[in-house]
Amino acid sequence: MNWLFRTLGASIGKKLMMALTGLSFIGFLLAHLAGNLTIYGGNDLFNAYAEHLHALGPVLTVMEWGLLTLAMVHVITGLTLFYQNLQARPSRYQVTKWNGGRTAGSATMPYTGIIILAFVVIHLFNFHFVNKEGTTIFQIVTETFANPLYVMMYAAAMVIVGLHVSHGFWSLFQTVGANHPKYMPAIQILGLFLSLVLGMGFGFIPVYLSFMA
Ligand code: HEM
Repeated sequence: MNWLFRTLGASIGKKLMMALTGLSFIGFLLAHLAGNLTIYGGNDLFNAYAEHLHALGPVLTVMEWGLLTLAMVHVITGLTLFYQNLQARPSRYQVTKWNGGRTAGSATMPYTGIIILAFVVIHLFNFHFVNKEGTTIFQIVTETFANPLYVMMYAAAMVIVGLHVSHGFWSLFQTVGANHPKYMPAIQILGLFLSLVLGMGFGFIPVYLSFMA
C-alpha cells in the first residue's frame, strides 16, 4: 500500500491522476453535451431527457458524488503541481518563449482551470441547485439564456473549456508515455477536434436559445 501512496505523491503520480481524472471529465462532457443536444428538440424532448436522468435515482446520486470526487482530486492535484512548478522555476522574471512545446493552452492551464471551476459553481446554481417546483428544466434554461449577460458568460466560458481540453488531451498522452513522434500529430488533431466539438457544441446552445427567447 505504501508504494501506492509514494507513487501518487510523486510528480508522475500526480500527473497520472490529472490524466485519469481529466479523461473522465472529457467522457462526462461528451455525455453531457449529447444529453443537452435534446434541447434543440424543444420543451418536451429536453424535459423527457431530464426526467429519464433523474429516474436513475440512487445511481445518479452515486455518479454525482463520483464526479465531485474526481473534480476535487483534479483541482487539488492541479493546484499542487502548479505551486510546485512555481517553486522549481529558476527565475520568475524570465521572458516567456512560445516554443519548445509551450503553447497558449499549456501556459494558461492553471488559469483556465480556475475559471472553469468558477463557471461550474455558477452553472450548478443556475440549473442544479435551483427550485424546480412549478417549472421545468427547459423553462429554467431558456429563461437563463434570455439574459444576454448569461449568454456571453457561457459562450466565453466555452472558449476557455475548449482551450483547456485541447492542451489537457495532448498532455494526458504525454503523461502515459504515448508521445511517439508518429502518433503525436494525430493526437494533437484529435485534441483540437474534441475541443472544437465541446466548445462549439456547448457554446452554440445559449446563443441559439437567446434567439428563440
Ligand atoms: C451551454 C452549456 C450547458 C448547458 C445548457 C448545461 C445544462 C445543464 C443542466 C440543465 C443541468 C442540470 C441537470 C439537472 O439537474 O436536471 C446541468 C448540470 C451540470 N452541468 Fe451543465 N450545461 C452546460 C455546460 C456544462 C459544462 C461546460 C460543464 C463542465 C465544465 C457542465 C457541468 C455540469 C455539471 C457538473 C452538472 C451537474 C450534474 C449533476 O449533478 O447531475 N455543464 N447542466
